[in-house]
Amino acid sequence: MPTLIFATNNQHKVDEIQSLVGADFKIIPLKEAGFDIDIPEPHDTLQENAAEKANTIFKITQQNCFSEDTGMEVEALQGAPGVKSARYAGEGRDFQANIDKVLQNLGAQINRTAQFRTVICLIWGDAVEGYKTYYFEGICKGRIASEMQGEKGFGYDPIFIPDGADKSFAQMSMDEKNKYSHRQKAVTQLFEFLRSK
Ligand code: IMP
Repeated sequence: MPTLIFATNNQHKVDEIQSLVGADFKIIPLKEAGFDIDIPEPHDTLQENAAEKANTIFKITQQNCFSEDTGMEVEALQGAPGVKSARYAGEGRDFQANIDKVLQNLGAQINRTAQFRTVICLIWGDAVEGYKTYYFEGICKGRIASEMQGEKGFGYDPIFIPDGADKSFAQMSMDEKNKYSHRQKAVTQLFEFLRSK
C-alpha cells in the first residue's frame, strides 16, 4: 500500500482523511513518522502555511508528503477568523474560546454566511524524476448558528451549519460531515490525482 506522510498533529484531520481514502493509501501523521514537532503557521494565506508545513517535512524526510491548512471565513467579519482560525482567541488555540469570540463578534448580526476553506499542499515525485509541489482546494459554504449545537467533531464544528443541512457539523457522524466538508472536497482531488499517477 502506498504511504504518504501527513504533516499534522491533529488526529481529527487524520481520522477524517483516512476514512475518505480507505485502504488505498496509508496516511502517516507526524508522530507516527517519528517527528514530535509543531510546525509554525506564520503566513497570511492558507496556501503559504500549507506549503510551509509540507516543505518543512519534505526537507527532513525527502519523502512524499502533504499538509493542509484550513480556515473558517465569516462574511460579516470580513473573512475572519480565516487563516488565523486556530489562534483567533489567542495562542492557546482553545476551541471553546475561539467559538465564543466568533459568536460574540457576530452578536445579533443577520448575515451569518460563512465558509470553510481547505488548501492541501502535496510534494510528490521520486529521487530520479524529482519532486514537484501541487495544491488542491476545497470549500464548504454554510452559516454560523446562533449558539453551539452538538458535541462531535472539533474546532468550530458546533457553530457551523453547511448549506443543504439543518444541523451543525458537530451533530453529524464523520461520514455525514464528509458528505459536505471542505476537507473531503480537497482530499478527493488529492487522491484522484494520486490514483492517476
Ligand atoms: P489548522 O488548519 O490546523 O490551522 O486549523 C485551523 C483551525 O480551524 C483549527 O484549530 C480548528 O479550530 C479549525 N478547523 C479546521 N478544520 C475544521 C473543521 O473541519 N471543522 C471545524 N473547525 C475546523
